[in-house]
Order: sequence, then structure tokens, then C-alpha cells
Amino acid sequence: MIMNAKKRVGILTSGGDCPGLNAVIRAVVKASTIKGWDLYGIPYSTDGFISLAQGKSQPEDLKLKDHGYDIPGLLQGLDVLQFLSGSVLGSLNKGNPHDPEVANNIIEGYKILNLDALIAIGGDGSLEIIYDLAKKAGWNLIGIPKTIDNDVPFTERSVGFDTGVNVVTNALYDLTFTAASHERVMVVQVMGRDAGHLALNAGIAGGADIILIPEIVPNLTENLLENICKVLAKLRSEGRKFALIVLAEGVKNFEAKKEKYIGDHLAQLIQDYSSKLCHNGDESLCNLEEVDCRATTLGHLQRSGIPSSYDRLLATLFGIKAVTLIEQEQYNHLVILENGKVESKSLDKVMPMIKWCHQENRCADPVDPHGFMVQTAKALGIYMGN
Ligand code: F6P
Repeated sequence: MIMNAKKRVGILTSGGDCPGLNAVIRAVVKASTIKGWDLYGIPYSTDGFISLAQGKSQPEDLKLKDHGYDIPGLLQGLDVLQFLSGSVLGSLNKGNPHDPEVANNIIEGYKILNLDALIAIGGDGSLEIIYDLAKKAGWNLIGIPKTIDNDVPFTERSVGFDTGVNVVTNALYDLTFTAASHERVMVVQVMGRDAGHLALNAGIAGGADIILIPEIVPNLTENLLENICKVLAKLRSEGRKFALIVLAEGVKNFEAKKEKYIGDHLAQLIQDYSSKLCHNGDESLCNLEEVDCRATTLGHLQRSGIPSSYDRLLATLFGIKAVTLIEQEQYNHLVILENGKVESKSLDKVMPMIKWCHQENRCADPVDPHGFMVQTAKALGIYMGN
């Protein structure tokens, strides 16, 4: 097979943003510039193709070059991309590529660019959408996993997760002192969608007393509340007057429904329940009667921290792996971290599993409730709801 050395490559970011996207883009820009390739940054994911198809933008507008940035003075030429969160290309987590007209426009835009390959940096949802389009239109696709949820299967890490863990860990540190000063119980609601990786990793690193994740506690129950109150009362009786509870947003309410502010809900329930238990005659719980519970929802702060050194490195390694795969014309692969090494896996093996999980409404890569991370939390005496 004769390989064409000079490539025309597109790159886009899709789904929710996260720290490290720009570091991937930077790595791809640098490596393809050195190789003399033409690189096109597709703005707002597949919407960028639609704009091309509708004549609202021209291929030349999308060309990416490694020219440094126009910063004055001695910082002239500084390459800032690896430090910045978000995506310079913009991202998209809506739109309906299943609508045939939308899909045709996207495919039309892709044809105008006449790409040899497309690098899509996405989570499981957005990668599935782009994979389907790629199959339909015969694109050469390379996927790079990104998400603070760390729930893309077949990779140990996704870009953005490490920074998310750092943001939550730092928040737990910050909350510790105000919690201690007022002898309060702090419930910290953490993102992760249906996965508990972020809550579990940060909860352990940040010294949580209780960590609740959907893989172990799918929804709140009276029994769970009673146990939480018992754990808090025991801590108090041992002299620890404050407590930190990390609650993953995927844990549902009593009716097994998702609640936007599940942390506030749990804080109120603990407050009400603790006095009820004492009044019902369980004296061991009466030291909780006046407990002051507060909730903090960290929200999108978790997606916007300065990318950690690990995320910058992972993003760079993943970006260079994508370029290498394209150079070798090994298309239709997802770049992954496997046993600590940067590898790749055929998207035709990855996607059926993702699709099945989506159909079944399951998380594509949940926390293993029997894994060493959970064992570690339990060995530290962290209550996890079972
Ligand atoms: O998938 C990343 C994520 O940040 C989840 O953790 C969270 O549930 C969701 O996206 C929030 O989405 P949005 O930014 O659309 O509110």
C-alpha cells in the first residue's frame, strides 16, 4: 500500500468541555506543522461542517498553524494552549445528527474539506454520534477520550479527569476549615453523570468521611439515611465534630429519580432525620440533634480548572498517538491508556459496547464496587453505604 505522506486532517472537540482539550489540540497542531500537513480546526464540532456546507465559512478560515500567539513584549510567541481550559475550537453537546438533513449537511461540509482523517476528541456520547456519521460517510476517524467523568470504556484515563479530581480534592480541603469552625456536616455534590469515579477518587484524596456513588448506592433510602446518621453520631462521640460527605450526582432520590440538587436534598434529609431518630428514642444519635448540615454543589468549576500536569501530559501523548495513527493510516481507532501505556483500540470493538450501554441506560464504564479503589476507601473507614 502506498501511503500519502502529506495529510489533510481535521480536528474537533465534542460534548461537554473539560481541562486538557487545548493541550491535545496544541500537540496535534505542533506535530502536523512539523510534518507539513494541512490541519483544519472544525469549530463547534459537527456544526463547523454545517457552516462549510452552507457557505458560512471557507476551508481557509479553519486552517490551524503553529504560529504561537500574539502576546506583546517578551512573551511574544508564547504557546499558551496547554495552560488553558475549555476548547479554542468550541464544543457542542446538542444538535441532532440523526435528522437526515442535518447529517447530509455535516457530510457535505466534510467533503468540501476533502480530509484524509478526522480527530474527534469526545466522551462516549459524542464519540458514538461521530462514529455513526463516519461509518455512514466513510470518514477515517481517530477518537481521543475526554471527560471529567472518566467513563469512556477501554481506557484507564480520559483527558480532564485528573484536573477534575484536583478541583474536588482542593474544594474538600477548603471546606474542611469552615466545616470544623462551625461543627458542620458538609455535603459536597460532585459531577460524574452516572459514574462515581470523580467522587470516589477525590473523596479518598480529600479526606471524606462518607462517599456515596451510584454504583453502590443507586438511590437514597431510609435505611441509608439512618446509617449515615449513625456514622456521623459515632464520629461526634469520638470527638470529630465536623464531617465531609462526598455525594456523586448520579445517586438518585427516594423515588429513584435524578435530582439536580441532590446534595441540598441529602443535607436537608440528614438534618431532619437526625432529630427524628433521637426523638424516636435512639439516644446514641442525640448528639446529632442540632447538627448543622450544608450542601455545596461544585458544578462546572469541575470542568474549568487549570489543566493539571498529568492532564497536559496525557493530552499531549494522546494527541501525538492520534497523529502517529494517521501517519500509519491506521484509521478507525480510539486512543486509549491501557496498563499505563498509550495504545489504541479499534472503534468497531469499542462502539458496540458503548451502544449497548446507552440502549440499556447503563454507565459505559462504572466504578467496580469490588475494586481496589472501593476497598481502599473502606479500609480507611470511609462509609460508602453498604
Ligand atoms: O459529562 C461531563 C459532565 O460535566 C457531567 O459530569 C455532568 O453531569 C454534565 O456533563 C453536565 O452537563 P452540562 O454542562 O450540559 O450541564
